Amino acid sequence: MIAHTNPLLLKDIVAGIRLPACPLVFIQLTRAIQEGDQPSSEVANTISMDPALTAHVLRVANSAMYGHPRRIHSISEATLRLGCSEIYFIATALKARDLFTTSLGKFGQTLWEHSLKTGVLARGLCRRRNGMLTDAFFTAGILHDLGKLILQQVTPSYMLLCEDGAVSGSELVARETAAFGTHHAALGGELLDHWGLPETLVKLVAEHHDPQPDPNTSRNNSHGLLAAANEMAHTIESGAPLMERKTTMITADANERHMLIAEFQRQMQILRAS
Ligand SMILES: [Fe+2]
Ligand SMILES: [Fe+2]
Repeated sequence: MIAHTNPLLLKDIVAGIRLPACPLVFIQLTRAIQEGDQPSSEVANTISMDPALTAHVLRVANSAMYGHPRRIHSISEATLRLGCSEIYFIATALKARDLFTTSLGKFGQTLWEHSLKTGVLARGLCRRRNGMLTDAFFTAGILHDLGKLILQQVTPSYMLLCEDGAVSGSELVARETAAFGTHHAALGGELLDHWGLPETLVKLVAEHHDPQPDPNTSRNNSHGLLAAANEMAHTIESGAPLMERKTTMITADANERHMLIAEFQRQMQILRAS
């Protein structure tokens, strides 16, 4: 990769190349779930304004995976029957997929698969840790590597670096910083901020490769959760058994681990079938 003489700045990238636009409904949903007084009705109203998304969410909500005997006919009914968090989960995943898969071919598709896994694992881990910010962690998971899309747009050979399995985590960040003067986590955070997404998400994405404090001694036990989900997603992609993964974010209890993995597989099936 050719080293850029000046650090890449998001404002110059925005001015110079076509970046994926964030669907308005995605921004509205993310704000509703994190900042709204009545997230259920705000989420239902936002989805209902988008006929294609409504039809898609209803199809998933009525799929055999949820096993409801009676057909669900509206988003407000779906929110009542499956819960606001589940409807948010389906709708944001459907909308985010377009960001990754519309224009970047195989690179975008592979990145989307990784992002989806990371989001679903972050959601599961968060539920098991303290249950706080579950929806935010899911969203941060599906957006955490968005900066890679930007780097790929700027330098098409960037994908070769990502495809090199030996280069990941801090090594990737170091190589990106040497070439671009910045890295995908920082750029992703800047893009989310540029779109007006909540600060919690911006911070989670921007810091997902920062050195993490020990979660056992940290006062905030969600520190490192996104990084752990990212690592677990890479483990799954490498074909290594997740049950043997040693991370403090995954409980040592074998039953709990089995439940986390079973839940991950079920949720991936729901989203892949959509
Ligand atoms: Fe990353
Ligand atoms: Fe990642």
